Amino acid sequence: MKPKVLIIDDDEDIRTQMKWALATDYEVAVASDRRSAFEVFRKQRPEAVLLDLGLPPSPNDTVEGMATLAGILTLDRSAKIIIISGQSERENAVKAIGAGAYDFLCKPLDLEQLKLLLQRCVYVTKLEQDYRRMQAEERPDLFEGMLGGSDAMREVFTTITKVAKSNVPVLILGESGTGKEMVANAIHRRSSFKAGPFVAINCNAIPENLIESELFGYEKGAFTGANCQRFGLIETAAGGTLFLDEIGDLPLPLQVKLLRFLQEKRIQRVGGRQEIAVEARVIAATHVDITKALVAGRFREDLYFRLAVIACKLPPLRERGEDILLLAKEFLQHLGASNGQDALAFSPQAIQAIISHPWSGNVRELQNRIHRAVVMADARLITEVDLELEASLYPAPPHGHSSATAYANGTSTSRCLKQAREHLEREMVAVAIERHGGNVSAAAKELGISRPTFYELMSKLGISKD
Ligand SMILES: Nc1ncnc2c1ncn2[C@@H]1O[C@H](COP(=O)(O)OP(=O)(O)OP(=O)(O)O)[C@@H](O)[C@H]1O
Ligand SMILES: [Mg+2]
Repeated sequence: MKPKVLIIDDDEDIRTQMKWALATDYEVAVASDRRSAFEVFRKQRPEAVLLDLGLPPSPNDTVEGMATLAGILTLDRSAKIIIISGQSERENAVKAIGAGAYDFLCKPLDLEQLKLLLQRCVYVTKLEQDYRRMQAEERPDLFEGMLGGSDAMREVFTTITKVAKSNVPVLILGESGTGKEMVANAIHRRSSFKAGPFVAINCNAIPENLIESELFGYEKGAFTGANCQRFGLIETAAGGTLFLDEIGDLPLPLQVKLLRFLQEKRIQRVGGRQEIAVEARVIAATHVDITKALVAGRFREDLYFRLAVIACKLPPLRERGEDILLLAKEFLQHLGASNGQDALAFSPQAIQAIISHPWSGNVRELQNRIHRAVVMADARLITEVDLELEASLYPAPPHGHSSATAYANGTSTSRCLKQAREHLEREMVAVAIERHGGNVSAAAKELGISRPTFYELMSKLGISKD
């Protein structure tokens, strides 16, 4: 198959002349303005693009040409665009290189030179493609830095690939530590916003009274202490991705404002009257069941449907089968190496314990336990004790050395612990809610947990507001 070249020029004679000159070696497509250029590029993904900077409606300057250059690069960061410019426009051609063009040629065109340049372009594109393919082939269980070979995770990777291409909002669901932020980041890196910033906001980490100014910014004098104008995080994310973590904790009044931003792509700073247009991709995440918050009236339905056009559900680690050991071994190798130790391995009992542990803190818990074990272990073989996993809770491997007594002790210790924890939780929740006269927000804040988690605890322990 011949490599494809797209010629973008408003002069029909030039288009025909170039097409004629290149037709033997290339499949040539042509476009005469920005819109048709995007259309052809999207469909054909040519290996090289030849771009004249003077395009209609302003053929006498480079505005439209530069916009075409930027637009194509947004569609594909690695597109190879060669600028064709007049002698007098040399300066602009150099500017275009700064904006991401591959190279430039001056008119009148030297066809031999053009052919050589195109050959090089196609060669580099092929090298880049091969490199990406090799990377993917070498580690089929690695996707944008995320490890996962289980069906459940492959499904997640497929979803990411699909949603990254469009600009729809995505809601990422998953227990704490399952990799929600990593998924958001992967979507960003694969999207057309990848050249822009990735701005993450944790809605439950910002005090309620500060969230609005953090998100929307403020004008000078908007409130006492507002000594100067400040951009909010939404504005900072312009041209990139805004990641709203723990969206379930966003206070209701701000949900209304966020909805307005999603619908109109405009914001108003606190104390400001001016509407500011902001184009950014929005990804939200939550570790709680947001539908409960919907029923309880703590989350707006309209906002929910806006954010959850597509929901991406991350399975808990305990449901990822072989991935648990895959991740454990990878972390052991990686964390060991950064701690100056190589050739570390897990003991058979440690492996058994890793497989059986419920991992309520998911990947983050696994990572933390292994990190601690790497630092603390005395030998090359990491044991379940180094991991602080109670091996006695798990069935012993065939030739294991855990005794029956240890098994019994372990179980009773854990039951005691469970009872003690429940007792303590009940007391702390009850006291906090009483101290704040039934104000759940304030009580949750005092205990350093999110409101949804607090509600969950209340219902688990059977405690009511009053
Ligand atoms: N599939 C994976 N492969 C490798 N590392 C992972 C994977 N998933 C998560 N991690 C690592 O686990 C940790 C937790 O991931 P992340 O912060 O994305 O999770 P989260 O769901 O946002 O957690 P939280 O609910 O605590 O905010 C990070 O250090 C991340 O690098
Ligand atoms: Mg997170």
